[in-house]
Amino acid sequence: MVPRDVKRILTGIKPTGIPHIGNYLGAIRPALALASLPDTTAMYFIADYHALTTIHDGKQLDHLTREVAATWIAFGLDPEKTLFYRQSDVPETFELAWVLACFTPKGWMNKMHAYKAHLDASKEDDKDAGLNIGIYTYPILMAADILLFDSDLVPVGKDQAQHVEIARDMAQRVNHAYKQELLRLPAAKVDEQTATVLGLDGRKMSKSYDNTIPLLAPAKQLRKTVMKIVTDSTPPEAPKDPDKSLIFDLYKLFASPAQVAELRARYQTGIGWGDAKGALADVIEATVAEPRKIYDELVADRARLDGLLARGAEQARAYAAPVLKRVRDAIGMRRA
Ligand code: ADP
Ligand code: TRP
Repeated sequence: MVPRDVKRILTGIKPTGIPHIGNYLGAIRPALALASLPDTTAMYFIADYHALTTIHDGKQLDHLTREVAATWIAFGLDPEKTLFYRQSDVPETFELAWVLACFTPKGWMNKMHAYKAHLDASKEDDKDAGLNIGIYTYPILMAADILLFDSDLVPVGKDQAQHVEIARDMAQRVNHAYKQELLRLPAAKVDEQTATVLGLDGRKMSKSYDNTIPLLAPAKQLRKTVMKIVTDSTPPEAPKDPDKSLIFDLYKLFASPAQVAELRARYQTGIGWGDAKGALADVIEATVAEPRKIYDELVADRARLDGLLARGAEQARAYAAPVLKRVRDAIGMRRA
């Protein structure tokens, strides 16, 4: 039987780019809010082996893993309260992934969006060209991440919900095969409220579009990037509609209600785009100034970050071990 305790919330963060403000507003801030709820255990991990499906430069993967980990801590993830670890430090994951692979019909993987996106993007006649098996079986590893920890809730973006559904289907197959509740059935939590944050060019902010505002860049660089937001040629003194302004939209996500009201009034009486961008840079800076200090210290202190993640991994493995044992015992690999 699957033991019941408080609700377990688990999510993975793929270290494939330096976090931008879209990641902060869409993923980091809501996940930290969830982790602070009572009667929950939050488990947030860096999915570095998932990043290996696309990043084949060891130094780069190492840097990104550290930068992403340091960002979470800098914005308030408390490793005393939240299990925080690297996927690659929990070898049980890869054992469970194999078990799950043996219960996964190939057809399921054909329907997964990471694979389909590759097919759609491919210009080759041979649709398998440039596709590694890691991308194809990505959802199996992700299911192992989830099921290994008896996760109840998995907060993810819309695009990842399908993967959580498949993890649930896999768990059901395994449970059915061994006629017991070996694996807990997880559910995705997609926050419909979290608006898609738009980038410098007005499209969805994404590292793939090169239109991001990096979250913890040095102050000067942050301001310079904000100045690149595309605007029209309305003269500075002309009144402007705040509700049709990307700058104002972003401002609202960082500013207090009083600040929002004040900037709204300035828009209505006429504000130059340069000044509006300056106001936006100011509120972002106020949010990130303290976290940036913590981040800079952590990124520079390899031993401290490693120590912290190693301790997280040890705790994570203590959660994982009984789940894997349950599975091994059931599938015919019981050891005395
Ligand atoms: P990117 O699109 O830059 O590659 P990822 O796909 O790695 O970002 O996303 C990591 C997390 O950040 C996901 O939970 C995703 O939903 C969230 N996220 C990314 N971009 C945005 C955005 N523009 N607005 C809101 N949330 C976002
Ligand atoms: N695939 C997720 C993404 O691209 C990251 C991830 C890996 C994950 N393992 C997970 C998310 C387990 C939730 C649960 O964003």
